[in-house]
Amino acid sequence: MTDAPLAPVDLRSDTVTRPTEAMRRAMAEAEVGDDGYGEDPTVNALEARVAARLGRAAAMYVPSGTMANQVALRLLGRPGTLVVAGRRQHVIAHEAGAAGVNASAQLHAVDDPGGIPSHEELSWLIEARDHHWPEVSAVFAENTHLMAGGAPWGAADLERLAAPGLPVHLDGARLFHAEVALGVPAAELSAAATTVSCCLSKGLGAPVGSLLAGSAELIDRARSERKRLGGSMRQAGIVAAAGLVALDQHVERLADDHRRAAQLAGAVAERWPGAIDPTDVRTNIVLFGHPDAAALLAHLHASGVRAGTVGPGLVRFVTHLDVDDDGLARALDAIRTAP
Ligand SMILES: Cc1ncc(COP(=O)(O)O)c(C=O)c1O
Repeated sequence: MTDAPLAPVDLRSDTVTRPTEAMRRAMAEAEVGDDGYGEDPTVNALEARVAARLGRAAAMYVPSGTMANQVALRLLGRPGTLVVAGRRQHVIAHEAGAAGVNASAQLHAVDDPGGIPSHEELSWLIEARDHHWPEVSAVFAENTHLMAGGAPWGAADLERLAAPGLPVHLDGARLFHAEVALGVPAAELSAAATTVSCCLSKGLGAPVGSLLAGSAELIDRARSERKRLGGSMRQAGIVAAAGLVALDQHVERLADDHRRAAQLAGAVAERWPGAIDPTDVRTNIVLFGHPDAAALLAHLHASGVRAGTVGPGLVRFVTHLDVDDDGLARALDAIRTAP
């Protein structure tokens, strides 16, 4: 009898995780009600938990991180103005152009070295209004920053972005990764933002769900925006239950994902000197350029490892709940023998 083939080690994204047994049990047992009436106790518990964790008066459950960003755009960006964001941020690069459809503000891209939108460019744009440029109505930032290789960044930089007094939204899809990497609570990292989002389905292992947090007044308005986007749900406690388990059980363990990503980055640097500086990899994302990414992905695939690209020639490995040390060892071997 031959052994069953091993499941592939899936490094394409931290969204590929499957709910754990504890999550499935919590989902089966979840108390639910109609969230359209505010009567789902599990959704209410999740919203209260996240609001407290992010140091906010209120939070709202949404189906996706994209919807959290789009609701924030509609809340903070005014029609006919500029919303400034880092040029590689998810809201600019990966939301299928949603901002152009859902919000009538114009996204204005600035450089985002280290994942932080340029303070200098923001100041320049604010002043440029006196010189025939459109007004800036809001600023969007992202922590950790996906396309900067999962870079986590500190509260002081967000304070500088907020200093001119414009509303700031922080896309915190992986804010808990930043919390663990920097040893600074998510509430502190996001304190200067007007609204902050976080995702339960990226690395934390929940099947669905993100939250948008802010003042009670803003989140009240956010509920209308969510409805306009078709994002109001009914007995959503079924999935919110898994989100509560994710928060209880899967935040501290992100340190394991960060350690494994650092090991992957070390192997990449050995195999392709100069492709990456492993000390830059501080969370769960490894991004590097490769001259023949298609050949590399094919080799990895044949070795039982799945990876992806996030730009031409830009290869990405992401560690998560479903990649353990055995999976890591298989991925390291595949990198060492790669073209
Ligand atoms: C930084 C960031 N923001 C937002 C999102 C959007 O999340 P979703 O896929 O749940 O819409 C993602 C998705 O990977 C992301 O990486």
